[in-house]
Amino acid sequence: MKSVGFVGWRGMVGSVLISSMEEHQDFKGIHSTFFTTSQAGQKAPKNSNAELLIDAHNIDELSHMDIIVSCQGGDYTKAVHPKLRANGWKGFWIDAASTLRMESDSVIILDPVNRKVIDQALDSGVKDYIGGNCTVSLMMMSLGGLFENDAIEWLTSMTYQAASGGGARHMKELLTQMQVIGNKFTSMDENIARDIIAVDKVVTDTYRDGSLDSSCFGAPLAGSLIPWVDSAVDAGQTREEWKGISETNKILGRDASNLIPIDGTCVRIGTMRCHSQAFTIKLKRDIPMNEIEAMIGSHNDWVKVVPNTVEASRAELTPAAVSGTSQIPIGRLRKMNLGSEYLNAFTCGDQLHWGAAEPVRRMLNILVKENA
Ligand code: HSE
Repeated sequence: MKSVGFVGWRGMVGSVLISSMEEHQDFKGIHSTFFTTSQAGQKAPKNSNAELLIDAHNIDELSHMDIIVSCQGGDYTKAVHPKLRANGWKGFWIDAASTLRMESDSVIILDPVNRKVIDQALDSGVKDYIGGNCTVSLMMMSLGGLFENDAIEWLTSMTYQAASGGGARHMKELLTQMQVIGNKFTSMDENIARDIIAVDKVVTDTYRDGSLDSSCFGAPLAGSLIPWVDSAVDAGQTREEWKGISETNKILGRDASNLIPIDGTCVRIGTMRCHSQAFTIKLKRDIPMNEIEAMIGSHNDWVKVVPNTVEASRAELTPAAVSGTSQIPIGRLRKMNLGSEYLNAFTCGDQLHWGAAEPVRRMLNILVKENA
């Protein structure tokens, strides 16, 4: 039985991972040890085979593991992974953080899309398997059928990203902002509350008087949006936008010789944990709509083509419908006025599930169940 060490299992992605592993009874097939950066020696949680929590910076203890799964974050990876490798550890490192994603000796894991790339990497001895950026993974899960059929010449993705992408504190900040603004309305003088222009002025004044805590996002998000996610990189892009082209092509095993151009604007909006994206896709050829829908809908078990109707879009293609599930709905599918090779699409997916924890859980299973 494989020894698996878990680090960062209490955080947001880690908690989603652990509960999904419990749901799938994944702990039955492994010998698990839980590591901690702050509570070494305390009692380990119920899924642990070891009785106590072990120090997550103890390289010797970590080195006993066949597989380490980290949801601890990039700083931990930066601090620990090189030491482990320098210490001669040859185990598998599965990581939700971005630190090692673009390394030449790592693979970005999204097995419903790139199982072949993963299998080739396993055959050639690759040991670092890294979860992709949430927006990229959710885009690829929804458009997997078009990528698989090499139908995409280029695409743009305009994103609507949830607070959870920033972390737990960001989600709480969004809720607090909602509460402050909502309270202004409910506690308002009746005469003002009747006049929506007067109500709106109170809300707008609240945005501008500095009374909303925006320390995480840097600007009010509730009832607003922020057209910037992550830090700046070159040529006016944000890092989140840059990941679109770089990670997608790495996931597909493509390089400069056959790169699919991808670009867009990443926008933070006031949703909790679902990232949505609007695509403009330039197809390589004029593919009939029924064939496009068949390609997309048959690609994996989670993607679902939503009819391009108001009822279906409202019922199935919103964060409110998708949050907390494994569904990858894709809808608003239609050819655009730009020409018959231009496809419009919209998708929505849970940022913590397929966007973070699930590729990690599935990679662990590939190693435990298929690579024993
Ligand atoms: N960078 C993403 C976001 C989440 O801020 O929404 C991590 O993939």
